Amino acid sequence: MASDLKGLILSGGAGTRLRPITHTSAKQLVPVGNKPVLFFGIEALVDAGVTEIGIVIAPETGEEIREAVGSGDAFGAKVTWIEQERPGGLAHAVLTAREFIGSDPFVMYLGDNLLRDGIVDLVETFRRTDPDALVLLTEVDDPTSYGVAELAGERIVRLVEKPKEPVSNLALVGVYLFTSSIFEAADRLEPSPRGELEITEAIQGLIESGLRVEHEVVGGWWKDTGMLDDMLEANRLVLDEAETDIAGKVEESEVEGNVVLGEGSRLVRSKIVGPVVIGPDCLIEDSSVGPYSSIGPSVTVRDSAVSDSIILEGCRLEGVRPGLEGSLIGRNVEVEGNNGAGGSLKVMLGDNSRVELS
Ligand code: G1P
Repeated sequence: MASDLKGLILSGGAGTRLRPITHTSAKQLVPVGNKPVLFFGIEALVDAGVTEIGIVIAPETGEEIREAVGSGDAFGAKVTWIEQERPGGLAHAVLTAREFIGSDPFVMYLGDNLLRDGIVDLVETFRRTDPDALVLLTEVDDPTSYGVAELAGERIVRLVEKPKEPVSNLALVGVYLFTSSIFEAADRLEPSPRGELEITEAIQGLIESGLRVEHEVVGGWWKDTGMLDDMLEANRLVLDEAETDIAGKVEESEVEGNVVLGEGSRLVRSKIVGPVVIGPDCLIEDSSVGPYSSIGPSVTVRDSAVSDSIILEGCRLEGVRPGLEGSLIGRNVEVEGNNGAGGSLKVMLGDNSRVELS
């Protein structure tokens, strides 16, 4: 039985597919249901009894992540910070963590991944069956965006990173259980066409060395939140599990479905259709919010409509009609609409933003 299982969360990376949000903030801290994606990963590890956790961070976003997570006490974990100087790929991140891991087996968890059912069963299977590596697979519609596994019966025979012509629709989920044999396999890698040391190729190396690489197929939903639509879908999936909790004030307003309203927040002459999570100290006035919206702390929404969106803290929306839908709005953003009068919309947005008026 494996002992001293450590956790390794990869929370570096540039987050280029989530710009402009990631120009100023780490992608792993974008909240779904008002909780940073990364926190779901830390909680999943702790739930599985893995409390000694190394978190790999990049120089640009590391400080913000350290500040958000703190010592790990709040999660019941002991966190060690590991700096990855450059985004050299997942296998490069593993090599960076070599000293922290030592000779212990470990769970590697990609900090932008979300798994509904957590990893308790997976860790239990690893402990019981004691393979050299255990990977998690799930069926996806577009295997060309992932690492893909080719099976012969119950055995993985080949793993290919982002194949042009996929051999199956079984993608590698961003949770892996390794023994220290992964270090030698990672040592032997050359950069891939995208210039990274690919963990998928390191695992392929284990298979080629005759080591035992087992797999499990994901039960509940899984999301890699690297892109806007995935982030919004993750938000919907998390909100589907929200339970009503009204701490703020409801004045002349209608509340339907599961709604969380934070302390110090006010709903005034508004309609909220759950699932919706509204943080503390918000004002929602003469507006409609929901379904599927997460509103961060200290947000003002006035004469506006918001659905299927994530709005981060400190934003102000005014006169935004017919409304925002399918949007991700960074911190302290101000959007002034024209109340649907058909005139022009004046907004100030960061680099690489996208505005769609429909
Ligand atoms: C990475 C891995 C890929 C895996 C995916 C899961 O892809 O390289 O094999 O399927 O995570 O989220 P990336 O997010 O770097 O494109």
